[in-house]
Amino acid sequence: MGGAPAGGRVAVITGASSGIGEATARVLHDEGYRVVLLARRLARIARLAGELGEGAVAVAADVTDRGSLLAAAGRVQAELGRVDVLVNNAGVMLLGPFGAELAGDHRRMVETNLLGAITATEVFLDQLLANGGGDLVNVSSVAGRTARPGNAVYAATKWGMNGWSESLRQQLLPDVRVILVEPGAVATELTDHITHAETKAAAERMYEQTAIPPGEIAQIIAFALSRPRSVSLNEILVRPSGQAG
Ligand SMILES: NC(=O)c1ccc[n+]([C@@H]2O[C@H](COP(=O)([O-])OP(=O)(O)OC[C@H]3O[C@@H](n4cnc5c(N)ncnc54)[C@H](OP(=O)(O)O)[C@@H]3O)[C@@H](O)[C@H]2O)c1
Repeated sequence: MGGAPAGGRVAVITGASSGIGEATARVLHDEGYRVVLLARRLARIARLAGELGEGAVAVAADVTDRGSLLAAAGRVQAELGRVDVLVNNAGVMLLGPFGAELAGDHRRMVETNLLGAITATEVFLDQLLANGGGDLVNVSSVAGRTARPGNAVYAATKWGMNGWSESLRQQLLPDVRVILVEPGAVATELTDHITHAETKAAAERMYEQTAIPPGEIAQIIAFALSRPRSVSLNEILVRPSGQAG
């Protein structure tokens, strides 16, 4: 069992049940943060909280459901009393050729990746500002800077996140640092959910050859957070060394 000190900084991490979110929770907890693990799969985050031990709390929440985020924020306020970091990480990458066949996937990506991050931020912002400021980490993607056939709506959500983050950065400085992280291929469960079979197989092949472990991204997030308050790492683009586009 781990042991983040009582009274340590509080980091709320969406999508903490797997991949980059889980890895970020582990690294920040190791560094002494109290971590709030948000995701829909309660059994997964409860198990992780149990493994981390003191200073880790699992709270079931769906970022597409504002009511569940409000309930989560209420619980954080009541049980931990503060939020210093919000990591907007929850996301889905439902790749495939653009067309009506994937209309449901398109909606899910916009509602989760973009609107979910916007809603979580709006819901937690008061707590983030309450103690003189904090940090907002937005997990975007290489697809927030590039686009290619097959990732149109996924890229749209991440380009959207980038534009929204830059506006927020200017609005909230210097109290809240907005840190935009743009990973390339990372070995997580992200490709598991692709519904277009041919695209899924191609993505899995590419990931098998290229992807880096999620802990690498978690370490970068922790590094950015560890800089003095006068230093803001606004945008971090990180690809596996073997990834071209
Ligand atoms: N892996 C990569 O190559 C890569 C590259 C660039 C950017 N990213 C970004 O990194 C972020 C994390 O993805 P990952 O790679 O770690 O994939 P992952 O292992 O599939 O994790 C995705 C996380 O998002 C959560 N999530 C999905 N829908 C949610 C919802 N409606 N409400 C709350 N949580 C939700 C999932 O939890 P539940 O299912 O339990 O709710 C899970 O914890 C995403 O934003 C993704 O776009 C990933």
